[in-house]
Amino acid sequence: MRTIIEPFRIKSIEPIEMSSPEMRSEWLTEAGHNLFRLPAERVLIDLLTDSGTAAMSARQWGAMMAGDESYAGARSWYRFEETVRRVFGFAHVVPTHQGRAAERILFGCTVNSGDVVPSNAHFDTTRANIEYLGGHAVDLPCAEAADPTTDEPFKGNVDLAALEALLDARADDVPLIMLTITNNTGGGQPVSMANIRAVAELAHRFGKPLYIDACRFAENAWFIKQREPGYAGTSIPEIVHEMFSHADGCTMSAKKDALVNIGGFLCTRDPSLAEREKNLLILSEGFPTYGGLAGRDLEAIAAGLEEVLHEDYLRYRIVSTAYVVDHLHDAGVPVVRPAGGHAVYLDAGRFLPHIPALQYPGQSLAAALYQHAGIRGVEIGTVMAGRDPDTGAERPPQLELVRLAIPRRVYTQSHMDYVVEAIVEVFERRDRLAGYRITDEPPFLRHFTATFAPL
Ligand code: F0G
Repeated sequence: MRTIIEPFRIKSIEPIEMSSPEMRSEWLTEAGHNLFRLPAERVLIDLLTDSGTAAMSARQWGAMMAGDESYAGARSWYRFEETVRRVFGFAHVVPTHQGRAAERILFGCTVNSGDVVPSNAHFDTTRANIEYLGGHAVDLPCAEAADPTTDEPFKGNVDLAALEALLDARADDVPLIMLTITNNTGGGQPVSMANIRAVAELAHRFGKPLYIDACRFAENAWFIKQREPGYAGTSIPEIVHEMFSHADGCTMSAKKDALVNIGGFLCTRDPSLAEREKNLLILSEGFPTYGGLAGRDLEAIAAGLEEVLHEDYLRYRIVSTAYVVDHLHDAGVPVVRPAGGHAVYLDAGRFLPHIPALQYPGQSLAAALYQHAGIRGVEIGTVMAGRDPDTGAERPPQLELVRLAIPRRVYTQSHMDYVVEAIVEVFERRDRLAGYRITDEPPFLRHFTATFAPL
């Protein structure tokens, strides 16, 4: 059979409030043309993020009812700890309320002012937590990552020569090396096992620990199984084990590949670091056997970490993202290729070549998709890049993108057919789309709250 079906039945549904393009035009104006300012009920297909938006299984909901809410040493904690150890292979597990809390605690224990933390590409919160401590977050993506039109299998890889040069020059300033799998900032592209191994060898040659930002670890493992020679016959749990066997620890937002709505953790092999992390944890997150989570959350994460490793789930997940990318590409819509794991990235720069960067083509495209079809994505371009903190100048990035992130187990193939149809229709009338100007913006992270007016 060619058709790959959703490997689940739907038992509980959440109605979508239908709306017309005219209603959405009005709502868009009310929201200052910023999709972050829209009440979610006014959205038909919400592709703002794949974080915390998953549908949980009946098994997870059942596990939640069995949550043990004891303050210290709850049964749910032991189940969570055992599962994380079994899946990732790290001895020390520290629970947190989400990924950025894990980052803050890891860097709080390791990064000093003036330090440099290299990665394939840091996610915003990873970068912000390093910069908050006076460190520098340096992205070293491989050269293939820059070209959205080629089909290289592992565009999430680190540029090994650049990493070696940085370590040669500044090893004393590097407390650890990070690796984001899959690479969210770079289009959800995976990192190969060979690259993980090589980065670890390099790190360890210089006596540095390697930490993996593990949010989408199962999706990365699936890509290794599909694309890397030698792994077709290896099971997903074995691939995951091998990926993390090269690392010294990880940070995790459970809101992605643990299939839950809240949660996270960090892991390490280093017992003294684990102690320091737990001391920091108690200050703001909570006691080390719950870390800001309820017992029921720990149960849901433990169950989700097992479910996400099922091949039927991962095949459906990755195929449904590729389905959208391939249909758009066939219709001539400029889209980042190959398909990543968790999101479709429209290339707004090539979609709207008549709109210059400082008139925010990504913003224009995201607003048009909402107005036309009620689809909410997010601009990843000049608006999100913000201004240079020293000069206040705009700093357009290389690519103007719109990310359509796909929540896990939430939408069906007909929702995705609707998304494809809507994008193709907007593409057909792209000449009519105009740019925007900003009418009001805050000093930091302006994309969340700025207001816009069409030109
Ligand atoms: N690392 C990566 C690669 C992420 O994508 C995210 C979150 C985090 C860390 C932080 O985790 O949100 O649990 O604190 N990404 C979301 C997104 C917000 O929409 O891409 P968190």
